[in-house]
Amino acid sequence: MKITVIGAGNVGATAAQRIAEKELANEVVLVDIVEGIPQGKGLDMYESGPVEGFDTVVTGTNTYDATAGSEIVVITAGIPRKPGMSRDDLLNTNAGIIKSVTSQVCAKSPNAILIVVSNPLDVMVYVAQKASGFPRERVIGMAGVLDTARYRTFIAMELGVSVEDITALILGGHGDSMVPLPRYTSVAGIPLTELMSQEKIDAIVKRAQNGGIEIVNHLKTGSAFYAPSSAAVQMVEAIVKDKKRILPCAVMLNGEYGIKDTVVGVPVKLGRKGMEQIVEIKLTAEETAMLKKSADDVKVNMDKVA
Ligand code: NAI
Ligand code: 2OP
Repeated sequence: MKITVIGAGNVGATAAQRIAEKELANEVVLVDIVEGIPQGKGLDMYESGPVEGFDTVVTGTNTYDATAGSEIVVITAGIPRKPGMSRDDLLNTNAGIIKSVTSQVCAKSPNAILIVVSNPLDVMVYVAQKASGFPRERVIGMAGVLDTARYRTFIAMELGVSVEDITALILGGHGDSMVPLPRYTSVAGIPLTELMSQEKIDAIVKRAQNGGIEIVNHLKTGSAFYAPSSAAVQMVEAIVKDKKRILPCAVMLNGEYGIKDTVVGVPVKLGRKGMEQIVEIKLTAEETAMLKKSADDVKVNMDKVA
């Protein structure tokens, strides 16, 4: 198993480290445009193997030769947000970067599964799918796992329970119009709605929707990367181990949920073939309207880069 991570910045380097420490691959190749950074970080990471107890070989490069034959490619290249910027402000710069890196990596690894992380996420999945020519099953965006992790964390903080006992689902685009679903949120099987007032739930939903900017405002020089890299690596693990996990991921919809030709976050089954199934759950009229609005917001930006 060879996994390439493109972008050796905060999210990419941390994702590579997590993949190596979990021994999800024999080899991790870190690619970045800045000379020396992927080489230095890759070697430094590899040298942590004797202490951490992993044998994954980590290398860094500025070209794509060493990426040939990768089974999974995690794309994190691009610029992150700074305070005052929305994810959409990154649109044109990152679209150019994603188009370029996707074409180069896919030429060397035509059978790879792509996990896209760069923002604005849903649109970048579309750009990567177009540039790769891959079927939608092999171009999957990471956002829902992160948004759901934040939401689960805030619920655990409020109730004083383990984060592990909270199961939740967030649909829609990775933006302000994402759609948390309190009806499908439970704590050790107990519906959230029985444990918390609607007012509290609304406040937690709002905080999850603004989870990205909350971290940007703290960091000031960039955006979140610990939780994002964990989320991307959970998707990698589901694929590598063929776990058939049901996780919220951004994929191109072909009529599911009444949405067509738009990338948006929905629950999918992840296994060795990539996105193996889109799981369609029943939504109320209000939830359906929220999802449609979120998809419409994504579509506006997709049209700008089409
Ligand atoms: P960063 O700035 O730390 O790293 C980005 C790296 O990409 C840099 O090292 C840069 O040199 C590299 N890069 C730029 N152009 C490249 C090219 N053409 N080829 C190869 N490498 C190139 O940024 P960070 O924090 O790692 O974030 C990366 C992206 O992920 C951003 O767009 C950010 O908004 C997004 N993101 C998305 C999340 C999500 O939930 N989907 C969560 C967190 C970040
Ligand atoms: C986040 O949600 C920046 O999209 C990134 O943290």
